[in-house]
Amino acid sequence: MFSKLPTYAGDPILGLIGEFERDERPNKVNLGVGIYQDENGDVPFLPSVLEAERRYLASPRKAGYLPMEGDARYRQVIRNLLFGIDGTGVGEVSIVQTVGGSGALRLGADFLKRAYPDSRVLVSDPTWDNHIGIFEGAGFEVGQYRYFDPKTRGLDMDWMLIDLGGARPQDVVLLAPCCHNPTGVDPNRDEWCRILDVIQSRQLIPFLDIAYQGFAENLEDDAWVIREMVHRRMDFIVSSSFSKILSLYGERCGALSIYTPIASRASNVLGQLKLCVRRNYSSPPTHGMELVVGVLTDVELRAQWIRELAGMRERIRDMRNRLKEALARTAPLFDATFLVEQRGMFAYTGLSEEQIRALRDESGIYAAASGRICVSGLNPSNIDYVAEAIAKVL
Ligand code: LMR
Repeated sequence: MFSKLPTYAGDPILGLIGEFERDERPNKVNLGVGIYQDENGDVPFLPSVLEAERRYLASPRKAGYLPMEGDARYRQVIRNLLFGIDGTGVGEVSIVQTVGGSGALRLGADFLKRAYPDSRVLVSDPTWDNHIGIFEGAGFEVGQYRYFDPKTRGLDMDWMLIDLGGARPQDVVLLAPCCHNPTGVDPNRDEWCRILDVIQSRQLIPFLDIAYQGFAENLEDDAWVIREMVHRRMDFIVSSSFSKILSLYGERCGALSIYTPIASRASNVLGQLKLCVRRNYSSPPTHGMELVVGVLTDVELRAQWIRELAGMRERIRDMRNRLKEALARTAPLFDATFLVEQRGMFAYTGLSEEQIRALRDESGIYAAASGRICVSGLNPSNIDYVAEAIAKVL
């Protein structure tokens, strides 16, 4: 048995974790996986989350299975966070607690495959590698629309609209409401409106993947496009995650939300989602969910978390500025303005696969082969070292 199985080449992002850990150089730098690191290079436990955990462990709730769709309080938290307190206009949203953001994407993919078996899925070029894997894994043909302009290291709006305009009705379009992974390039509000116009006129199915709400501007502004789509009475799907914004990576806390402007359709949508959950993993886990609910439903802990989130966002911005300044010294001919224009955890440097390999081999600096760096891996102790190493490979 199993003698003919192909070798797994490894994951281009998660594989970097093991490679980095095995590297024994003391000055190594981790700019690989999208995990927020603090100024000491540690992945923090947020104090608000630790307090929520302390309270939960002091009086745990009953053990047992959660419902297939997850905990009702958690689902309400998601509703408020994504759709705002005033909610969902005339429509209704069906929300399912999922096993992380990846689990939400896969659940959404399974749901769509049942509802629209002949649709294609279009992802941005470039996109998070696993988007392609997840949708292909659910049986979809995956195509790309142009998104990133390597010349400006910004948005390629014209080609994006042309490619979306050429999509077939009921093709699924994957979009990032903020902090696009891997480029950090986001449309502005006018551009979003033009994108939504094309999606509506072509009758495409929008699927928003939001893992970094609050890392660009704040919780509200970063969800603007969701609110705009409710306002336009569009049907759409959102996958979301607490991995980054609550630093809860290992707890796998995510959600899938499906908005339908015709509220009476929501119960069938939820029913189909529950069916997909039951056939996949039956019901979601409890512990991380309790921490999310503990923080986001307590007025003081929520306010504290919003300050902690702002702290992460501001530190990333500071590192963007400081890397740009450091590169101006070490590589004056390299225009690093893109670093302060792109937003969120990632900067898309334009460095080639070869240059990224040289950074790793010569300096112990780990980044994704696509040229994406995780800006939060920078800190005052390593930023000059990184700027010098980049200058050497240019
Ligand atoms: C990333 O893009 O690095 C993160 O979202 C982690 C992952 O699962 O790839």
